[in-house]
Formats: sequence, C-alpha cells, structure tokens
Amino acid sequence: MAKLFAQMRMIAGALALAIVVAMATPVSAQQPNSVNPTASAVKEQQLLQQLKIIQGRGSIPDANSYVLEQPGGRDWRNWHEVTLRWIGGIAVLGALALIVIVYLARGMVKIEGGRSGRKIVRFSAFERFVHWLTAGCFVILALSGLNITFGKSLLLPLLGPNAFTAWSEAAKFAHNYLSFPFTIGVVLIFLIWLGGNIPNAVDVAWFKRGGGIVGNDHPPAGHFNGGQKLIYWIVVLGGAASAVSGYLLMFPFYGTGIEGMQLAEIVHGSVGVLFIAAMLGHIYIGTIGMEGASEAMSEGTVDINWAKQHHSLWLADEMSQTKGSGQTRPMATPAE
Ligand code: HEM
Repeated sequence: MAKLFAQMRMIAGALALAIVVAMATPVSAQQPNSVNPTASAVKEQQLLQQLKIIQGRGSIPDANSYVLEQPGGRDWRNWHEVTLRWIGGIAVLGALALIVIVYLARGMVKIEGGRSGRKIVRFSAFERFVHWLTAGCFVILALSGLNITFGKSLLLPLLGPNAFTAWSEAAKFAHNYLSFPFTIGVVLIFLIWLGGNIPNAVDVAWFKRGGGIVGNDHPPAGHFNGGQKLIYWIVVLGGAASAVSGYLLMFPFYGTGIEGMQLAEIVHGSVGVLFIAAMLGHIYIGTIGMEGASEAMSEGTVDINWAKQHHSLWLADEMSQTKGSGQTRPMATPAE
C-alpha cells in the first residue's frame, strides 16, 4: 500500500512538473511577442502626462542624470529636430538665394570713374586685427554650429559614422574653445566702433535712397553707412545673445534648470542661424558685391574715389581734418 502511495506521489509529481514545463515553455518562447508595447502599462506618454516627470535613482553624483523624461522634453526635441532645421534652412538658403539674385541683377558695384591711385587710411592695424579675430572665430563657430543642427542628416550619410564622429568631436571642441576669443572680439568691436555706429538722420536718408545697392544712387554717408551700422548692431546684439545663451549651454545647470537650458538652446539656435544669414550678406558686400571694399580690411586703406562714392561725408571730414592740422596724413599714399 505504501509502495502504491509512493508510486502515486511520483506520478502526481511528474505530472505537476510536466504541466509546469508545458505552461512555462510556450510563455518563455513567446515572451517577446506577449509583451504588448502599446499596452497602457508601458505607455511612456501616459506616465509622463500623469507624473509630469519620469525619474529614478542613480549611483553617480549628478542627480540631474536621474531624470529620464521631463515636461517639455519632447517639444524641445521636436523644436531641435524639425523647427530649427526649417528656420535654419530657410534663413541660410534664403540668404544665399538673395545674394545670387542681387548679384545677377546688380553685379559688382564698381568704382565710378575708376581708381584714383590715391589711398586713404580707413582702419588701423588694431581694428583689422579685431575684425579678423572675430570673423575667423565666427566662421568656425558657424560651421561647427551648423554641424550640430544639420550634420546628422546631411553629413552622416555622406561621411559614415567614423569620419562623422571624428569631425563632430573636433567641431565641438572648436565651438567651445573659439567661443572665448569670439566673445572678446565682440566686446572689442562694441567698444572701438560704438562712436561711429549711433544711428542718425543721415542713415534714414541712406536707406530711403536704396543704400547704393538698389539703383545707381550713392547717398552720402559718414565713416559707417546705414547698412554697416545695421551689421554692427547685429554683430553686437547677436554676439551678446549667442554668448549668453551659449555659455548657459556650455556650463549646464550652473545658472539655470532644464527649462532654462531648453530656452537657451532655442535662443542660441535661432540667433545662430539668423546671424549666419546676415553675415553671408556682409561677406558678399565686402567681397564680390563691391569693388574696392575688401582692401579696407585687408590693407587698411581704400581708394579716394571709392571713399567719395560710398562715404562722402567721412572723406570730407578726413580732408578737412588734414587741412586743419596742416599735416600730411597717410591718406595720400599713392597706389602701387
Ligand atoms: C560665445 C559664443 C558661443 C558659445 C559659448 C557657444 C556655445 C554653444 C554650445 C554649448 C552649443 C551646444 C552644443 C551641443 O549641443 O553640443 C552650441 C550650439 C550651436 N551654436 Fe554656438 N556658441 C557660441 C557662438 C555661436 C555663434 C556665433 C554661432 C553662429 C555663427 C553659433 C551657432 C550655433 C549653432 C547653430 C548651434 C546648434 C544649435 C542646435 O542645433 O541645437 N554659436 N553653441
């Protein structure tokens, strides 16, 4: 009898084991399919809506890293991945298209009557140094910044992951470190040229007459004309906005929380791409858009006829100062 009971216990145990195995096997085999990824229990969106924030605990000292999702995170991502790309694409390609149209319609603005062969000093060596310091940093900041906005979609497919990673790392280092000389350059530009860049009635008249680009008019202008003053204020205010927002991003969580950083990135990205569009216009006028302009920043001098055409009030002022002082300023340097 005892033997019979023992045999029955064994059979019952074996049956129970078989049932467990039979039930367990299909469950484990079907595990990946049996989890419904859209089930409400795992819907991040619902969790986020209810909790407003998804965070846990971590083992590294930076408590900010414990937050996985937070209000506004997806809006910010959509801004960065979609909206900013549209703004940047329209601003940069729009500026390039406008430049092509102006060039085709107007061509290079020539020095009327040709060069006189006499030159006048326009910018000192220090002024040119400050200009090129800021401009050089700007170009690299612009390219490395555009890489953050567009690189993943435009360059990654062309370069492949390894080359893109190496380039992006170098670009990111350049963006961070060149921000410092750029900021110094913007502060110096603000200080050295502030006096000549206060808007006045002459600038209003200059704009009303098309600034010498629209039509063949050459409205009078002082050392800086209305267009150059506009560029000055774009550089000063755009540079300040880039620097403040950029340093908030570079030193995360020092001056602001996550919402402040999202705002800083929105400001930085928008100002950055608009700044680039404006500077494309500036580069155009300073090079192929106007004969005789680039030498003001390369050599520091311009032809007297150029000055007469584009900055007649400044030339008259310089002439009268020279006469008054009885000195021969380096303005009468003959061209080679
Ligand atoms: C003091 C000056 C600047 C500082 C401190 C700075 C700093 C930064 C930082 C920390 C980032 C974020 C990088 C990342 O997400 O890894 C960034 C992005 C960016 N910067 Fe700058 N930057 C400065 C100037 C500029 C200038 C002058 C331009 C434009 C010419 C510019 C254009 C951009 C652009 C387009 C982005 C990418 C925005 C995005 O897609 O999110 N930055 N910058």
